[in-house]
Formats: sequence, structure tokens, C-alpha cells
Amino acid sequence: MNDLFYLSEDQRMIRDLARKIARERIAPRAAHYDETETYPEESIRALMDAGLYGIWLPEEYGGTDMGCLALALVCEEIAWACAATATQYLDQPLGGLPILLAGTEEQKKKYLPRLATGEMLAAYSLSEPGAGSDAAGLRTTAVRQGDHYVLNGSKQWCTNGDHADVIVVFATVDPKLRAKGVTAFLVEKGMPGFSVGKKEKKLGIRASPTVALHFTDCPVPVDQRLGEEGEGFRIAMQTLDVTRPATGAMAVGIGQAALDAAVAYARERQQFGQAIAAFQGVQFMLADMAMQVHAARLMVHHAARQVDAGIRSNTYEASMAKCWAGDAAMKVATDAVQVFGGYGYTREYPVERFMRDAKIMQIYEGTNQIQRVVIARELLGS
Ligand code: CAA
Repeated sequence: MNDLFYLSEDQRMIRDLARKIARERIAPRAAHYDETETYPEESIRALMDAGLYGIWLPEEYGGTDMGCLALALVCEEIAWACAATATQYLDQPLGGLPILLAGTEEQKKKYLPRLATGEMLAAYSLSEPGAGSDAAGLRTTAVRQGDHYVLNGSKQWCTNGDHADVIVVFATVDPKLRAKGVTAFLVEKGMPGFSVGKKEKKLGIRASPTVALHFTDCPVPVDQRLGEEGEGFRIAMQTLDVTRPATGAMAVGIGQAALDAAVAYARERQQFGQAIAAFQGVQFMLADMAMQVHAARLMVHHAARQVDAGIRSNTYEASMAKCWAGDAAMKVATDAVQVFGGYGYTREYPVERFMRDAKIMQIYEGTNQIQRVVIARELLGS
């Protein structure tokens, strides 16, 4: 069972390493970080110490160049233990891939080797209070004045914005141009005119900070612009084409954790003189949960392998994988709570956390409704 025969030796090795760290060092602290809503410092440190932060980066920038499937495998293992830590972990490629995809050689050399070790943390800031699904409708402006741009506006829902050293901020040089005006900038912590705003109190992934960012006449040097003016939207979308499969992988991790917990509990919980696993009603639930997780994993791996094969027109499969896996995680985690009954509804057991954490998988990195829009557009050619 669960023998992924198509994994290479290196992929197996990295998955096994991530699994060991996730189970021995991350899982024991997950409930505490969730309860206290504190940054999962020690969990992140364990991942950095194991060299897992640089696996998505080419060797020339200090990484180990293991690819998107390896990233997905690691994300699944971490999310099995703690989805908040996995969200933090994936934020590094989310903030770093735009630099890899569109940065100048100077920008790559300045940031990527330090992202590979974790010496620097990255974040990605696209959403705004009035621009979530409609990302091209963003309103933060960037006005060129000589050798710098002046940024004004507010961003929202920025994962890790309060800890990141460098944030890829998407602003517009002209809101009327919509997507064609969107331009990406590398904003560093402490830049004058840039401040971190409200930290959200969330339903799930509580240990992963989500903050607002404010820009008030914030001068950003022209050499901190990523790509050309108007290229920001494409950079944002191409990044998501790589990170959406990895987000799907996090959902798989939550689903697998919920399934594992439900199977173990069903074996042990006695009712009517026998383990509840003996009842076919429970068996059918477990079988359905297992199929959901398995299908999600295969879709995620397929989408990730497309990236590794250099197939850049993978938007359709990336959206499918993210959407299916997010929906699967929500369904499986909800059913796991049901298998646990009243105990599942308490904080004595982890399944209520899995259910809360699963919900974000249907929302961030593009809601599952937006994924369906993307899939339908590809189908219909519209
Ligand atoms: N790759 C390259 N280019 C792309 C692209 C892709 N995947 N998708 C779109 N583009 C290009 C289009 O070709 C188009 O270019 P042209 O004008 O030259 O033809 C341009 O971008 C605009 O595209 P659309 O016309 O399709 O734009 P739209 O306004 O209709 O919006 C959308 C498309 C799919 C709805 C998009 O806005 C979207 O994905 N929205 C969701 C936003 C999102 O995912 N936010 C998540 C934030 S990150 C996060 O949540 C992470 C976290 O906290 C952890």
C-alpha cells in the first residue's frame, strides 16, 4: 500500500528525511503552536537544519535542484504533522520563485542563496482587501519617479509578511490597465514607508502568520523591480502554476493524517461489544476517505511531474490538483471527525485541527471556485 513505485532514489530519500523530521520533531509541537497561535520557530529550524529549504532551487543558487515532485513530497510530509509549518515552508518558494523566474542575475545572486539556507525568508503579496480572486483588480500603485518607484496602498492575507526579509509585492503602474499594469517589486523588511499591519486571527493554520502590509510613499529603487513594468501578473500566475501542486500536496498531507487517525481510532474504539471498525458503515467511510486521498496524491504528483518535465503549460492540471486535493482534504477531515464522534469534536484529539486546517486548502492560492474557472476556461478555450 502507498508504494509510489515511480519515485527516484533521491525522491524517496528526501521524502523519508522529511517524514522523519515531521514525525519526530514537528508533530509533537503542532497542537501547542496551534493553541498558542505562535510562529513555529522550532519546526522551521528543524527543516532548515536538515537542508530542506533549498530543494527547489538550482545548485548554482545554493539549492539541491530536486524539483517540484520532491517539493510536493516534502510538503505532504510536513502537512501531515503541521499544516501551519507546511504553509510557512511553501512560502519560501512562493516568494522565491518569482525571483528565479523573472529576476536579473544580480537579484538572483542577492537573494536566492540566502533563501536556500533559510538565512532569509521570503513572502508573496498579491491579494488586497478589494482584490482576492480578481487579482488583476489590485489597487496598490507604483509611480515611477526617476531612479525609484513610489508605492502606495495596502495588501492583505500575506503569509509570513511579518517575518519575511524580502517580499514580492505586486502593484500597478496604472489600475486601468488591469493585468497589463501589474508590476512586481522586491520589498525588504525595514524599507521606509513600508509597515506590517494587522495580524489575522484565523480558524486554522493558526501558527502561520497572515498579515496586512501598508505602503505609504514607500520608495523602491528601480533595480528592485522584478521583470519589466506590466509583467507582474504573468510572473504571479507562473509562480502559482508551480506552487498550486505543492499546495495540493499539503492538502494530501492533511487528508492522510486524518485518514490515519480515523483508521487507528476505528480499530480501538469499542461500541456494541466490538471495535467500530467492524461495522461496514465505518468501513465504507474509511474506504471512501482512502480513495479521496489516493486520487488527490496521484493528481498532485502528475501536476508536479509536469513541472519537472519542463512542461510550462500546466495551468489546467495544476488547478485540478489543487482543487481536487483541497476538496478531498476537507471531506476526509470532516469524515475523520465523524468517525471519532463526540471525541473528534474536542481538542483532546487532532482531527478537529485537521478539519480547521483543511478549510484553508479550498481558499488560499486561489479559491477552489477560481480553480474551476481556470479549468473551465482551458476546456472551453475562453
Ligand atoms: N501563466 C502565464 N500567463 C498567464 C497565466 C499563467 N498561468 N494565467 C494568466 N496569464 C496571463 C494571460 O495570458 C493574460 O495575458 P494577456 O493579456 O497577454 O493575454 C493575463 O495573464 C491576464 O489573464 P486573464 O485575462 O486570464 O486574467 P483574469 O483577470 O481573467 O484573471 C484569474 C485570471 C485566473 C481569475 C486570476 O486572477 C487568478 O488566478 N485569481 C486568483 C488569485 C490567487 O490565486 N490568489 C492567491 C494569492 S497567493 C496565496 O494565497 C498564498 C498564500 O497565502 C499562502
